[in-house]
Amino acid sequence: MMMPPNGHRAHGFSSEHFLDSDEIIHELDLNGNETFMDAGCGDGHIAIKVLEDYNHEGLVYAVDVYDSSIEDMETYKKENNVENLINIEADIAEGIPGVGDDSIDVVLMVNVFHGFKASRKIDEAIGELKRIIKKDGKITIMDYKAWDVPKGPPTPVRSSPEELEEFFNNHGLKKVYLNEEIGEDIPEGKSHYLIMFEKG
Ligand SMILES: C[S@@+](CC[C@H](N)C(=O)[O-])C[C@H]1O[C@@H](n2cnc3c(N)ncnc32)[C@H](O)[C@@H]1O
Repeated sequence: MMMPPNGHRAHGFSSEHFLDSDEIIHELDLNGNETFMDAGCGDGHIAIKVLEDYNHEGLVYAVDVYDSSIEDMETYKKENNVENLINIEADIAEGIPGVGDDSIDVVLMVNVFHGFKASRKIDEAIGELKRIIKKDGKITIMDYKAWDVPKGPPTPVRSSPEELEEFFNNHGLKKVYLNEEIGEDIPEGKSHYLIMFEKG
């Protein structure tokens, strides 16, 4: 496993080297003017890709609980003179300060959600995502399939799409899309699934 200079490994491994960010972002069908949030952005490679290649007229939020991630995103913002990027250091399960109710078009969370199962903060995290998303906005979760395979998080903290649907349904959010053929090619098939929810 590569160790990035600022130690991102301590808070999770960037997916940059094994997931195709274009494949993921295409799923979101962005128009280029959305308010987008990379929730649990890590090294920010997806937020930066959205900023540079997709969302030229929109606003991008990059959120992470890890201070080094947000410091690096602030450096990127300053060095590249990016005006439409807002970086926030926050624990999503505790609330994301400075983000209003019903204000985000698209939230994307890649390889983050299983952490809420591990910390038993699923309801708190979903409640916060529900608060910030617009009525017709989308919460997109991409995570490892609930398989007992070596790469990725421990099996007990993985969730199937059906389990995720139940968690989100409990908050009045409804599934609007599911892709179970996405991610890395591993011997068992595609490593991930991507699921979207709306307030409905
Ligand atoms: C496995 S990394 C994935 C990073 C990025 N999404 C990617 O695909 O490269 C998980 C990230 O989620 C962040 N994270 C974990 N729990 C969080 C929480 N409760 N609130 C905000 N960020 C969190 C970690 O600090 C880490 O940067």
